[in-house]
Amino acid sequence: MTPEEKAEFRAEALRRYYEFCERKLHVDMSRGKPSKEQLDISDRMLTELQDGADCISNDGFDCRSYGNPAGVRDCRELFANLLHVDVGNIIACGNSSLSLIYDFLSQCMTHGAGSTPWSKLDEVKFIAIVPGYDRHFAMAQHFGIKMINSKMTPTGPNMDEIEELIKDPSVKGMFCVPKYSNPDGVTYDAETCERLAAMKPAAEDFRVIWDNAYCVHDLYEDRHDHLRNIFKLARKYGTQDHFIEFSSTSKITFPGSGVSVIAASERNVEMILNRMHYQTISYDKLNQLRHVKVFGNVAGIKLQMKRHAAILRPKFEAVEQIFEEELGGLGIAHWSKPVGGYFISLEVTGGSATTVGTLCQDAGLTLTKVGATYPYGYDPDDSNIRVAPTYPPLDELKISAELLAVAVKIACSE
Ligand SMILES: Cc1ncc(COP(=O)(O)O)c(C=O)c1O
Repeated sequence: MTPEEKAEFRAEALRRYYEFCERKLHVDMSRGKPSKEQLDISDRMLTELQDGADCISNDGFDCRSYGNPAGVRDCRELFANLLHVDVGNIIACGNSSLSLIYDFLSQCMTHGAGSTPWSKLDEVKFIAIVPGYDRHFAMAQHFGIKMINSKMTPTGPNMDEIEELIKDPSVKGMFCVPKYSNPDGVTYDAETCERLAAMKPAAEDFRVIWDNAYCVHDLYEDRHDHLRNIFKLARKYGTQDHFIEFSSTSKITFPGSGVSVIAASERNVEMILNRMHYQTISYDKLNQLRHVKVFGNVAGIKLQMKRHAAILRPKFEAVEQIFEEELGGLGIAHWSKPVGGYFISLEVTGGSATTVGTLCQDAGLTLTKVGATYPYGYDPDDSNIRVAPTYPPLDELKISAELLAVAVKIACSE
């Protein structure tokens, strides 16, 4: 652009921005929350158990009472089929996979993962694939685990870099969201999974937090990503103890009132159950049973996800279309085009993400705090903005995406 064209471009963006300000918007796109419409499709969950007779599991267990710390057998079977592992490798738990990750890290800190408790070591480091999930990073920081950034690639973590980093024995693990990653929407490809499974870290108690939160969250029936089964690969290399898989129904049924699960090797399952023995007598088995009754089998879960996808697809497509119309070809931003998951990741040039966030906030649109997708809340390039299109109604979402694009134009032209 000539200087005159640039001035004109900026003036037009500012004019539109002030128009948005006058509309007094009040939209929250800060978290990946399902919309009310999505919650409504799980209302069957509320009436599934009517009396004591409904509360008996297939193996004859009265789920109203204590016991069965690894979870209701039917529920464990359902998740074993979903995650393609044996039922003995599954523990069905309470309402949050994030709290399971917290408990697991806590266990590693106080009791170790088969070796010295991490809290007794001078330094514990984790690899953080960036941009990534803010709550993973906050949790590591909370435990005093030092994070090392490694940039995400379109096919997953940069394995050349990871293979170097794990030569350091103080690197004890890494966070992975292997399918439809938060926020990039990347699914690790076959080669990446193979190399992750083949890793030979210097730390004998190396653990990968395999947070498979979006394992069935496809947006399209005909175009969806396939994630390799990490345990199947790991058994080939004898590294199955490296991986602890977490998942939940938070974005299948009700966030905060779903069922969470752990999938792990026999050794890790035993270690985790031993710790849980001191923690709880059993989790909420009635909720586990409710999920089994509502879905029946994996096909039932897949059908439910199709209903979610029908609501979510137009939202993702609307944001992508507006970004393309407003920002396409300008060379100031690029964004992910995921076929599943909960987020679109927007990258802006020139260290302008913070300015974009402030402009949006001042005009009534709350985004995920800029920087939150990096450890310590610090994005060294000040470039990443996590867009969460799921919660607002479609009309509000379109206005918000337009405002966001206008804010990018202003910030980048500055
Ligand atoms: C990658 C990832 N893991 C875990 C969670 C939270 O899961 P839960 O509700 O089971 O604690 C989220 C929610 O946004 C997420 O994006």
